[in-house]
Amino acid sequence: MKKLSGKKAIVTVGPTIERIDPVRYISNFSSGKQGYAIAGALADNGAEVILIAANVKLDEPKNMAKIVRVESAAEMLSACEENLPCDIAVFSAAVCDFRVENISAQKIKKKPGEDRMTISLVKNPDILATIGNHKNRPGLVIGFAAETENLIDNAKAKLVNKNCDFILANDISKNVFGQDENQMVCVSRNHIEEWPRMSKNMVAERIVEIIFK
Ligand code: CTP
Repeated sequence: MKKLSGKKAIVTVGPTIERIDPVRYISNFSSGKQGYAIAGALADNGAEVILIAANVKLDEPKNMAKIVRVESAAEMLSACEENLPCDIAVFSAAVCDFRVENISAQKIKKKPGEDRMTISLVKNPDILATIGNHKNRPGLVIGFAAETENLIDNAKAKLVNKNCDFILANDISKNVFGQDENQMVCVSRNHIEEWPRMSKNMVAERIVEIIFK
């Protein structure tokens, strides 16, 4: 019997893409390495893992119960809701906060004499906050916080506002995108724990430990 046998987990991962027109999009630098490591570690420990992956270009983690490929934040939210109820949910995706208000059906052309263009953006749904406050809220909700300043205060605010059990916060100014290592602070309602810099696989193991406790 493995630690997480009988538990169903959803894991979101990867950078969402928000289309501008048929050839252009808005996204971010997330590689998905940390999320794939978490999904793999959960499965290794016996969980039934539903991986909801946006635009990750890595080899898929092994032993996933299901992999749902999505592109945008809206698609990711639908996929999460469709896979409730579950016991554990880990939201490692780098979701674009905004999407393009009117996606152009045609390639946007330059116009003679126009040296600027403006794209109107509207806020995306917050997937973690939606699921954290859902009527079918998973038993355990783990979010991330990518920060460049005020790491702990911002992580605590996200913990409360998004109704999470844990927030794993990292300082993304410290060269983490696409790297094999990560440096996290684990924040819960009554505890703050600084984890040393370690491999993303080790971070995934530590996350399994806090889930199992
Ligand atoms: N998240 C989400 N849906 C969004 C934005 C973020 O599910 N629309 C989740 C991320 O997957 C992560 C957590 O919320 O688990 C925090 O994401 P982060 O980018 O650090 O912060 P934001 O909530 O976007 O806030 P801000 O950009 O103001 O720091």
